[in-house]
This record gives sequence, structure tokens and C-alpha cells, in this order.
Amino acid sequence: MATTLIAGGTVVSSTGRGAADVLVDGEQIAAVLQPGSSLLGSDLRASVDRVVDATGKYVFPGGIDAHTHMEMPFGGTNASDTFETGTRAAAWGGTTTIVDFVVQYPDQNVLDQYRLWHEKAAGNCAIDYGFHQILSDVQDASLTAMDELIDEGVTSFKLFMAYKGVFLSDDGQILRAFQKGASNGAMMMMHAENGGIIDVLVQQALARGETTPFFHGTTRPWQAEEEATHRAIMIAHLTGVPLYVVHVSAKQAVAQIAAARDFGLNVFGETCPQYLYLSLEEQLGARSDEWGDFEGAKWVCSTPLRARADGHQDHMWQALRTNDIQMVSTDHCPFCMKGQKDMGLGDFSKIPNGIGSVEHRMDLLYQGVVDGRLTLERFVEITSTTPARMFGMYGRKGVIQPGADADLVVYDPNGHTTIGVDATHHMNMDYSAWEGFEIDGHVDTVLSRGKVIVDETGYVGSKGDGRYIKRGLSQYLI
Ligand code: URP
Ligand code: ZN
Ligand code: ZN
Ligand code: ZN
Repeated sequence: MATTLIAGGTVVSSTGRGAADVLVDGEQIAAVLQPGSSLLGSDLRASVDRVVDATGKYVFPGGIDAHTHMEMPFGGTNASDTFETGTRAAAWGGTTTIVDFVVQYPDQNVLDQYRLWHEKAAGNCAIDYGFHQILSDVQDASLTAMDELIDEGVTSFKLFMAYKGVFLSDDGQILRAFQKGASNGAMMMMHAENGGIIDVLVQQALARGETTPFFHGTTRPWQAEEEATHRAIMIAHLTGVPLYVVHVSAKQAVAQIAAARDFGLNVFGETCPQYLYLSLEEQLGARSDEWGDFEGAKWVCSTPLRARADGHQDHMWQALRTNDIQMVSTDHCPFCMKGQKDMGLGDFSKIPNGIGSVEHRMDLLYQGVVDGRLTLERFVEITSTTPARMFGMYGRKGVIQPGADADLVVYDPNGHTTIGVDATHHMNMDYSAWEGFEIDGHVDTVLSRGKVIVDETGYVGSKGDGRYIKRGLSQYLI
């Protein structure tokens, strides 16, 4: 078994930082040592197979992106990253674990879909992967399948309050699924937007000739997110199930989550980089020479980007500091402009919903440290440690300690990263939602279960390095 020493760096955890060497033996971390330590009298640097010099650099636990949609069939097309391209791009950006969503559409068998997702991922991934299950057809067979999936390590289930006829569950279906989750220990996840309101607003906007991407934002108002978030919390309270609200973008939804948490409920919130940095005015309302007022299609996702004039973005950073929001995932759901997003030319409601960011989450959040919005420790917590605890992987993932998987990122605070489709990007997209973003830091080396998969020459791993993670129940409950 190969041994590697990550030497001379500053090891950062969710609770502190310090100079330390990390000894990796095979796939796991063997020891976290005083810098320059010897073991049984011998100089470690001389006795290991490989030394990674981390002098002047940070050593983080590998990033965990708990919300991705590789190859997802959605909006009449498929998300443009496969498990192969998407996980490789993730690796480039210092993410060593994803949790992807198995999709059940109406009339589909949940367990068949679960097996299909395994077929898509197996042998193709650059990094480790787990699965959540989306339920779009809550009936007896789906509820029974939830018990079986828990045994398979799929311990979290997403329901939707939007997308009628595709994903939407009514309140009675949500109640039944939440009751099942309360009985088997699952974490229930919610896409919290009132789809009934949104569908009417969309039809009214289109009838007025408001067809550009900007109106995707105005027809999914914060009130629809706040109301749905509140309703989901009430059904969770009634049933006693823990609730994780995905892709929170409205400050009013944050307030609902904060109030539930103050009341003592196991209610959690996730936000995404796009809701921290991007806005209705600047992105959804953008124009370009190439696309005219269709440029905003690049940022059509749901929940939508919110108005900066209303202060949602600043509030989201604050909520990350105060733990009203616990973690950041990408909701990586990429589509190309040509042949995919352009299906919505002349009708924004036909633009496939989603943004691709799996490669950039660590850098974008690290910039929050540089900008004084987060501590370095909180950065590690929201990008790795909390996702591991929230979704039953902690101990193996999310922490640098003996016995944990050697998923490690050597990050250079003196490095620099320019994000863009030509500059750095490895996702299968013909544009970048982050074109021109500059990061005051750089992912230098990435280890996945002890294997160096990114070094100074670039990606050096192989497809199939990544393995399925059979997750346990959430370790985050109050
Ligand atoms: O726009 C989004 N978020 N696309 C992915 C599907 C979802 O709702 O998470
Ligand atoms: Zn969603
Ligand atoms: Zn999603
Ligand atoms: Zn560098």
C-alpha cells in the first residue's frame, strides 16, 4: 500500500487550524503529526513513497457537494455532464464526494430508477458518490421502497412542491412520505416553491408578452418560496421528521428556517453559490451581442436568482455565518446554451432549469474567506464537515483524522484562479455561469482515498476511481 506525506501545511478543520503533517497509508489517513515528525526513529519524508510539499498552503478535507444532477433527464433534455465529466470537473475543483439525485418520474418504479443510477455511475466516476432519491409519485410502492433504500445507503429523499405533472407532490402525499421518513430515520428534503402560484404567474406573464429569461425570476417570487418553506416545516413538525430545505435563495425563507430552528426543530437549509453571488438584475436580466436579451437563460434555475436590491445575497452570507443556513451545495444541473437552453427562445418557461458549478464551489466559497465573509474553519464546515454529518458520512468523510478516507485538498492561498469556459473550466458546458470570476486561491493537489488525482500537471486520476458510498442516517440531528 502506497504511503504519502502531506508535509509542511496548515491543516484546517471545522474547529481550528494548525501546522501538521498528514500521513496517508493506502486509502486512509494514518496519522496527523507534529510538523517534521519521525515515526519509530526514521525520517518520515525519507520513508514514504511520496511527499506532497504543502509549505505555505492549507490542507482541507475534500469537498463534499451534496446536491448534483449528473445526466439528469429534465426539461425535455439531459443535464450535459455525465458522471464521468461531472465528477472529473468536481475533482479539478477540490470536491472529492458528490451526492447525486436518483430521479423517479410519475409511474416509474423507485427501485428500478435506483438501479439505473448505479448503472450510470459505476465505473465512470473520478470521485466517490452517494445517492439521494427523488420521489415524484408518492404511493404505496414508493413508500415501501424508502425502507429498502435506507438499507442501501440512500437515507435522504427529495420531494417537490413545484413542477406540477412532473415532480410536484400534493400536501397529502408529502404528509405520507414524511410519516414514512419519521418511522425509518430518513432525512426529508424539499424543493420549497409553491408550484400552483408559479404556474399561473408564468401563464399570465407569457400572455402579456413577457417571454425573456428575466421573467423566470419575476414569476417565481419570494412569497412562493417563503410560503412553501413554511408549509414544509409545518408538515415536518406534525410528523416529527427532520427536514432539509434545498437551494434556499430568499431571505424570507431563511427566516422561516431560522424560526423553526429556534423552536428546536430539526430543520436545515442549504444554499448554493449562485444565491450568494448572482442576481435577478445582473444575470437574469443580462444582454449580450451573441444572445441579446436571451443571455439570462444561462442563469435560469429554480429557485431563481433573487433581486440584489432586496438584499438576498448579503443575507445569505450572513445566514451562513450564523448557522441559520448550514451548508452550501451547487445543485449542479448544467445545460448548454446551444441545443438545450435555446429551447426556451421566445418562451422562458421552456428553458431547462439549472446551473453548472460543481467545479467551482470550493473556490467560490474560499473567496468568501478572502472577502471576510467566512472564517477558514467555517469554510471547511460548510463545504465538507457539515455535508458529511448531514448525510451520514462523517468519520469517513468530512474530517482529517486517523481512520478517515484520505480525501484531501492542498489549497494555495497565494495562488490564483480565473474562472471561465476557456480559462479553467472542465464541465461539459458551452458557457460558464461564472465567466470572469477571479479567485484569490488555487486548488493545487487533490487526493481521493489516498490517490493523487490532481497535481501540478492537472487531472491525473482515472475514470472508475470513485466508489459508491453507502451512507448512514444523518449525524446532524439536534
Ligand atoms: O434549477 C434547478 N434547480 N434544477 C435542478 C432541479 C432541482 O430542482 O434541483
Ligand atoms: Zn429542486
Ligand atoms: Zn437540484
Ligand atoms: Zn497553485
